Formats: sequence, structure tokens, C-alpha cells
Amino acid sequence: MNIAVFVSGRGSNLRAIVNSGILAGKVFVKVVVSDKISCPAFEFARSKNIDTLTVSGKNTPDTVTYDELAAILNENGIHLVVLAGFLKLIPAEFIRKLNCKIINIHPALLPSYGGKGMYGMNVHNAVFSSGDKMSGPTVHYVNEQYDEGAIIANLPVDISNAKSPDEIASLVLEKEHILLPEVIYDFYLNWIDGN
Ligand code: GAR
Repeated sequence: MNIAVFVSGRGSNLRAIVNSGILAGKVFVKVVVSDKISCPAFEFARSKNIDTLTVSGKNTPDTVTYDELAAILNENGIHLVVLAGFLKLIPAEFIRKLNCKIINIHPALLPSYGGKGMYGMNVHNAVFSSGDKMSGPTVHYVNEQYDEGAIIANLPVDISNAKSPDEIASLVLEKEHILLPEVIYDFYLNWIDGN
């Protein structure tokens, strides 16, 4: 099964996918897409000989538009798009033109702590301030609204002993690296069922 992974920065979830034992030899990251021209996730992708593409709303020499990107992914037989720390809203037109599903990993237990502005440390700061005892990543389908597509799975983690938002972030990130490859593996099982 071929996937495209969308990133905006660090790329630790991308690494978890590429290095995952359960996905090895079954799921192939064909392209890594970012809204940035350069980022650590791109460096990692290139070190693994994975193609990279920058997408933007504008038509510039170094980037593709969302329309062009949908055509490229469709023509290259991508079976699933995975947003792994991609922080821009995906345009509705792109979702309509793409022939496959899009999933996203969010660093909190949706439907709480989702929506515009709720990404990265903003999420963990809000969770820490609330005094919640549990957090954890959620994987969900992507639709036109931030973090509102149907929930696929989550992985709760006890954060009652966390002393800072950073501690929550690292507890949640550890679970992200387990949950995301597992969810992709479930998509793979469904995909082989249909092939
Ligand atoms: C991850 O914690 C991911 O859940 C979050 O950005 C981080 C990216 O880390 N995504 C969102 O907040 C989306 N709303 P990574 O680049 O190391 O995978």
C-alpha cells in the first residue's frame, strides 16, 4: 500500500511510520509533502530517498498548488494520505479531488482540545491548565473543518503526575508513535482485503 505523509516540521511521526516494524515491506511512504520549503522532516525523508514536495496556496517555481498535488497523488496511486504534524487547513477542493482518504493525528483526546489554533504545544498548554488527568493522541478522518472528521482511534495516557505541558507533550508523543503506525496497519489490512 502506498501512502503520502504530510508534515510541517520535526517529523517524529514520519520517522515512526518509516521505521515501523509492523509496516515494513507492506506500507510504502512514496512522498513526503510539506507546506515548508525546508524542515527536519524533509531532511529525514531525503536521507531515506523518499520524494519530497512543497505545497502552497500560491503558484511559485518551487511549490505545487493543491490542485496539482491532488493530480500527482492520484496519478501515482497513493492509497492513503496521512497528516503527521501538518499544521495547515487542508482545502475542501483538495479533499474533493483526491481519490483516497485523508487521516490526521491530533495530540489530544478529541473532541476536546481540537479546532483552529489547537496544535502542538497550544494543545498541551490547554490540557495542563485544565488539570485533566488523562490525555493522548487521536487519529481521525480529515474533512473541511479542523479536527472534526470522524474519530478512528485514540490512545489515552495517564498524565496525572505530569508537572508541565512539556511533560504531557512527551507522554502523548510516545503514544502517537505507537497509535499512528497501528492505525495505518489497519488501513493496510482493509486495503489487502479489497485487493
Ligand atoms: C505532533 O504532536 C502532532 O500530533 C501534532 O504536531 C506534532 C508534530 O510532531 N499535530 C497537531 O497538533 C495537528 N493539530 P512531529 O512533526 O514530530 O510528528
